[in-house]
Amino acid sequence: MIKVKNILCIGAGYVGGPTMAVMALKCPEYNFHIVDINQDRIDAWNSNDLPIFEPGLDEVVQQARGRNLKFSTDVEQGVKDADMIFVSVNTPTKTFGLGAGEAADLQYWEKTARMIAEVSETSKIVVEKSTLPVRTAEAMSRILKSNSKNLEFEVLSNPEFLAEGTAIQDLLLPDRVLIGSEQTTNGLAACQELVNIYQEWVDKDKVLTANIWSAELSKLVANAFLAQRVSSINSISALCEATEANVDEVSIAIGADTRIGSKFLKSSVGFGGSCFKKDILNLVYIAQSYGLQEVADYWRQVIIMNDYQQERFVLKMIKNMFNTLAGKKILILGFAFKANTGDTRESPAIFVAKKLLEEQASIVICDPKAIDSAKHDLKDLEGDISYELDPYEASKDCHAIAVMTEWDCFKDLDYQSMHNNMVKPAFLFDGRNILNHQKVHDIGFNVYPIGKDSLTH
Ligand code: NAD
Ligand code: UGA
Repeated sequence: MIKVKNILCIGAGYVGGPTMAVMALKCPEYNFHIVDINQDRIDAWNSNDLPIFEPGLDEVVQQARGRNLKFSTDVEQGVKDADMIFVSVNTPTKTFGLGAGEAADLQYWEKTARMIAEVSETSKIVVEKSTLPVRTAEAMSRILKSNSKNLEFEVLSNPEFLAEGTAIQDLLLPDRVLIGSEQTTNGLAACQELVNIYQEWVDKDKVLTANIWSAELSKLVANAFLAQRVSSINSISALCEATEANVDEVSIAIGADTRIGSKFLKSSVGFGGSCFKKDILNLVYIAQSYGLQEVADYWRQVIIMNDYQQERFVLKMIKNMFNTLAGKKILILGFAFKANTGDTRESPAIFVAKKLLEEQASIVICDPKAIDSAKHDLKDLEGDISYELDPYEASKDCHAIAVMTEWDCFKDLDYQSMHNNMVKPAFLFDGRNILNHQKVHDIGFNVYPIGKDSLTH
């Protein structure tokens, strides 16, 4: 039986960093070490300018860092010292070979497993924190158990359900924590070690235990169900625009049914983020590999609907701006995939920006936290792209504004001043339905919300 005191996390990203920081804060009797191969990222974690923006994260890191939380690039020493290792490396969609475009790319994961087997000198509990295809733990166990040192390795699945922008809140007050283990004496004992850690701050009845395959699969299914709700309401937004129904009213009406619930029914230009698309594609691939074509097709439709929603948004812009955007300047208000994060992975703003440039529009990008990421995302694109932190400056000489992210600070801008700065007739496409559409129409804008009547002059 492995008794846990020293905890390592491999991967200091959006999940590894915040997750371990909150654990360290809540469990002062354990030591937490977060390692990464990316020196810049580790340097940033050790500075006052953390590598990710997440409300509340600075305070948590400041309290725990230097007490029972440290960051370094010393991966192998970290492994040697640890009793429990969380593996939180990236698991992107595979871009080559068998399953390209759908399956998870497990190369970082497997390298980590082999390295743990190679450098370990004591027995360990290895925890899958990354999102992985169901039955990955089987491969993990086989790699770890192939060590010739007679060490014991127990593999647990502890998928992470935090959402970016609310990560600290989600970690402090999770709806549930899920831990999957082998149903053997040693597997259950390892599971109990992790249960003990979470129970330092999470209610007992919220710490769910399961068999390891259920835990792995539940993570993919949770993301698929959440994304499915967004695609469902987005499909209805197109129907609302055709019928003079109002998608926000439909959302409220159906969400009031407690069997349906009100969350994740906000129609938008489409969902983004590093995980929904990749995890659904992974689910599709897994279903296909078990010969379940109908199941695969069912879930693939969630992504098809998301692509359709983004394309529809751009088509609406082109059609309403007299079928030509060439030479027109368009303000992209928001570039992050959602509010309260600087993350732009799979942001619908990337798709929209590319399409506008293809139409030979000039684009100016404004976002309170995501300008650096936007520069990185668009660096290989040709065309007239500029970046401006000040929305008023950004609106100068623009023909249109496209709201891409639901940042609170965009709701209260002085749209009269922005309208004054713009070429007339001025257009406003609200991809997040965050503005008071009547008010901005009264200012003089031609307004195009999602799933509602347009307000034109
Ligand atoms: P990320 O890309 O931000 O971080 C992953 C880190 O792992 C990177 O810093 C990378 O340098 C490091 N890494 C890769 N290989 C390594 C190795 N061999 N040794 C040491 N470090 C290594 O990714 P993320 O967003 O934190 O996601 C990590 C996992 O968690 C993914 O499987 C993802 O699906 C899952 N997940 C993400 C979120 C989210 O909100 N981002 C939420 C739940 C689950
Ligand atoms: C999502 C899940 O919510 C987390 O539980 C999960 O852990 C995480 O994926 C993951 O595995 O990475 P995240 O992608 O950070 O979290 O953000 P969400 O709040 O889920 O938003 C995803 C996208 O859907 C965003 O672009 C958001 O704007 C969009 N969305 C969300 C809508 O368009 N409408 C909604 O009603 C809700």
